[in-house]
Amino acid sequence: MDEDRYDPAARLDLFPITARIEGEQLSIAGCDLGKLAEEHGTPLYLYDEASMDAAVAAYRAALARFYPGPSGITYAAKAFLCLAVAQWVQHRDLWLDCTGAGEIAVAVAAGVDRRRILVHGVNKSAADLQAALVHAGTLVVDNMVEMEHIASLAPAARAPLPDLWLRLRPGLAVATHHAFTQTGQEDSKFGMSVAEARQAVGLCQEQGLHLGGIHFHQGSHFHDPEPISPALDVVLELLAALRRDVDWIPEALSPGGGWGVAYHESELPHPEIENYVRYVATQLEEGCRRHSLPLPRLQFEPGRSLVARAGVALYRLGAVKHTAHRRWLLLDGGLTDNVRPALYGARYSALPVAAPNRPAAGPAWLGGPICESGDVLIEELAMPEVQPGELVAVPVGGAYQLSMSSNYNGTCRPAVLWLAAGQAQVVREREQVADLFRLDRPLAGLP
Ligand code: LLP
Repeated sequence: MDEDRYDPAARLDLFPITARIEGEQLSIAGCDLGKLAEEHGTPLYLYDEASMDAAVAAYRAALARFYPGPSGITYAAKAFLCLAVAQWVQHRDLWLDCTGAGEIAVAVAAGVDRRRILVHGVNKSAADLQAALVHAGTLVVDNMVEMEHIASLAPAARAPLPDLWLRLRPGLAVATHHAFTQTGQEDSKFGMSVAEARQAVGLCQEQGLHLGGIHFHQGSHFHDPEPISPALDVVLELLAALRRDVDWIPEALSPGGGWGVAYHESELPHPEIENYVRYVATQLEEGCRRHSLPLPRLQFEPGRSLVARAGVALYRLGAVKHTAHRRWLLLDGGLTDNVRPALYGARYSALPVAAPNRPAAGPAWLGGPICESGDVLIEELAMPEVQPGELVAVPVGGAYQLSMSSNYNGTCRPAVLWLAAGQAQVVREREQVADLFRLDRPLAGLP
């Protein structure tokens, strides 16, 4: 595809599955984006429930078709969490991967069942561990210090411990779009080596701790599932050795998350969830057969591929500037609600909300209001002529944008609306300036 072409029909495919261009206006889930912006202000984040449900359905259909053993889906809360998302997790019969006490608290406040809460964390604090022991159904142990700590707490624990899983670092990398999102390689800070995992199994057996599963997560945002296969081989070889040597077999195996999405029209069509699940499921089934291991519960742990496409960021265009070589479209949001272009070089696309089908007018640089030259949301994107005051929608905004947002330059975080069947509900209020210093305390006695 010619990357420099303005093709609104192709860009529409990046938007939620309910997005339409109707009467020369972009709508999502039957909601008029112009009206939503009038009512709730901008920048505004929209989540389309139907797109999230469709992604879950794609995982489930593929698992039913390609994996004969038991299976499940854990939503990785780090992609985006608020009470409404946690409620959705509970209602859709998913599990929730929480990193630490903060995300666990959101899950508990939303009424997520204990058995659905799974806890991760590479260096869990005492508070994280405590919250996990009280509220989680599954605790994924990252390292030997944590393993020994849990073993020391077990004798005095009043309630049964969560099901313990080990996070393994298979020592192999997969190609993600950025080194920051690779996690399974040898020198990664995440998880245990094969030798440490063997030690951890031994410790659990000595102490009579129930160890239910094994987990590995190779990285985030890959489009080709094949590199999962060598990592899975490492895991299965370890499991075969553990069964032979110490008679331990996990009930559950999780290949983590990481399946990517298309952010820009040049990356379309969207990577198929079905291809990813089929590949992993088939490799696992074959590997288990090869090693004569029973099929474990296969628990996928996606974040981005469940929510990224469901999310849209809606901005209002302020100034339009023409510099020597650039047409700048300056929006009312950017770096503070979406750090991904600056941090990972992520490439996004956009559509004007009104009359998206108007003719192209050459490339534009979409920048934000932050005092930082790196606050460029989209570089060199073909766009039509757009006027100050118009709305611009940036698709694929549902994952890792709000969860990595900041108050830099005194920016208030955007409101979030949940769109379903023609209705929009506020699920997170816009931050107010008073929130910016709510936790500050004035200095006493300055001379
Ligand atoms: N499980 C574990 C243990 C993880 O660390 C992650 C993501 C996931 C599951 C979900 O991965 P997903 O399916 O969403 O790729 N901030 C980066 C992404 C960091 C991902 C961290 N871990 C970004 O904006 O691209």
